Amino acid sequence: MTVEQTAGELYLPSVEIVNSAHINNRDVLANMATQDLVKFWEEQAKEFDWFSPWDKVLDDSNPPFYKWFTGATTNIVYNCLDRHVASWRRNKLALLWEGENGEQRTYSYHALNREVCMFANVLRSMGVKKGDRVTIYMGRIPELPIAMLACAKVGAVHSVIYGGFSVEAIHGRIDDSQSNVIITCDGGFMNGKTIELKAIVDEALKRCATVEHVIVVRRTGHEVSMESGRDYWYHDLMGLPVARSTGGGSRCETEEMDAEDPLFLLYTSGTTGKPKAILHTHGGYMVGVGTTLKWVFDLKEEDRYWCTADPGWITGHSYIVYGPLLLGATSFMYEGAPTFPYPNRWWSLVERYGINVFYTAPTAIRGLMRFGDAWPNRHDLSSLRLLGSVGEPINPEAWRWYYEVIGKSRCPIMDTWWQTETGMFMITPLPETPLKPGSATRAFPGVDADIYDENGRPVAPGEEGYLVLKSPWPAMLRTIYKDPERYVSQYWSRFPGVYFTGDSARKDKDGYFWIIGRVDDVIKVSGYRLGTAEIESALVSHPSVAEAAAIGMPHEIKGHAIHAYVMLRSGVEPGEDFENELKQYVAHELGPIAKPEKITVVPQLPKTRSGKIMRRVLKARAQGLPEGDLSTLEE
Ligand code: WTA
Repeated sequence: MTVEQTAGELYLPSVEIVNSAHINNRDVLANMATQDLVKFWEEQAKEFDWFSPWDKVLDDSNPPFYKWFTGATTNIVYNCLDRHVASWRRNKLALLWEGENGEQRTYSYHALNREVCMFANVLRSMGVKKGDRVTIYMGRIPELPIAMLACAKVGAVHSVIYGGFSVEAIHGRIDDSQSNVIITCDGGFMNGKTIELKAIVDEALKRCATVEHVIVVRRTGHEVSMESGRDYWYHDLMGLPVARSTGGGSRCETEEMDAEDPLFLLYTSGTTGKPKAILHTHGGYMVGVGTTLKWVFDLKEEDRYWCTADPGWITGHSYIVYGPLLLGATSFMYEGAPTFPYPNRWWSLVERYGINVFYTAPTAIRGLMRFGDAWPNRHDLSSLRLLGSVGEPINPEAWRWYYEVIGKSRCPIMDTWWQTETGMFMITPLPETPLKPGSATRAFPGVDADIYDENGRPVAPGEEGYLVLKSPWPAMLRTIYKDPERYVSQYWSRFPGVYFTGDSARKDKDGYFWIIGRVDDVIKVSGYRLGTAEIESALVSHPSVAEAAAIGMPHEIKGHAIHAYVMLRSGVEPGEDFENELKQYVAHELGPIAKPEKITVVPQLPKTRSGKIMRRVLKARAQGLPEGDLSTLEE
């Protein structure tokens, strides 16, 4: 099995990979979808179980509020667990897990379902019902997917907050979603340290009024404060007969949901300081995520699949939790840092667990590449068949290292472009696709992507423009929770009737897409999506800071790093360690992932006459580039 490399850096997959793939001719499917989009998705929807069928595949009577599979009922959890437990897959491994401290756990479909049922009964006994929002803030441990699945099973809407966020980020998200139950853990292990998650929750809860119950999973065993009447240990609740009396302990009926009922909210950063909750549903999301995972990562029944993301981000929602379980696959999850205790940790896990399909982010590849080839070369990586990349453009140098040193020039790299909003892969290779390092290649069948200029006209090949999506897809976001106007203005107004991604890109003469990056105020730091406004609002909440501006600056490993400019309140004299103090403050308020790389105190910020901070001017200055049109700059 070799992948032949041809001139012009086109990497062709081997005949074996193409012949054994679920899809070995993308054009056939793409043509089917172009001819009849509705029929195309209807065919894919038949792969899943529904309690009752749809009246309509796509209701486009009120764009951009599209609806999919209207009239149908299902539950994504029924498709992730119930139907597998009723089949031979009952004893198949669903989830393998390793903690950073080397602890191991495995769950068959039966065992995972049992745990989910028991926890769903616990939630029901606490009064959680269809439509209620539940916030989950945990480390990367099996109870995180278990909690998500238990919520969905009873029809509750989960809102997972990534464990790298902190007090104010949690407060804002709980407040907006009005959750009354929070599921967390005492702490988590990361890079040899412990993160005291429960203590962070306690501090956030001092600022929230709605929360009635906190369920705490024991992970580190560290002492935590438990407020009587509010806080409960997960293991106590799971052992209580109360859960049994409501539904029979390890048996629990899966709630019948309308295809368009909300499945989860996921907060993501946009252009204002207030993060927005992207809303996804049971039906369309299930069809989109299951289909894309099957075709792109080509999961076979006997495969072991590992997506290194965190379940707290969309990649984890779609392609750690829901996607693999929908397909009845076996997936692996690892709690900790890739370099702990040594930079071979990931490669040793690939070898030990016999991983066949491995999906990670460019920032991680660049970070590990830095330690040299000797670390991966100590391990037998021959189980690998397909590799994946997501989160930001992958630079060709990292692509080649990943391809040659990790994949031994045998494993095609699926560079998947998509977003929290899209729910599923949108521009991506399939195993049959000839690859160009750094390009996410072509749109997934049924996805109508294009590049527009300022005036909404398609640009010529090779020219840079705005990446747009011209037709609806089943896993699309339905709205921004409680803010439909923002949904319309943010995504559908720049080019009326067309979805605006916020990315710039170009398409080459072969129709391959090359993503350049964000054109809005979103910064991708190590693949994590952060909003400049959110960082700025954390900065100005510090008593010494009057105004702040955050920009993303190119960074060798992280892709982009945050540089902040702050104007101090009058009379404030910055102490010697002020920059460090302010960095720590942002890490405490928003989270360690949002900690600025550099902070500069300035006497003034460049603003337009109407008072808007001109971040592009700061960016140009910082990079020593021309500052562009300054006609709107205030005196
Ligand atoms: C960027 C992550 C280039 C892009 C799934 C997008 C990418 C944003 C790629 C969404 C890729 C994601 N190549 N850029 N393969 N994948 N992006 O919502 O800027 O965290 O708009 O979803 O990540 O980030 P989000």
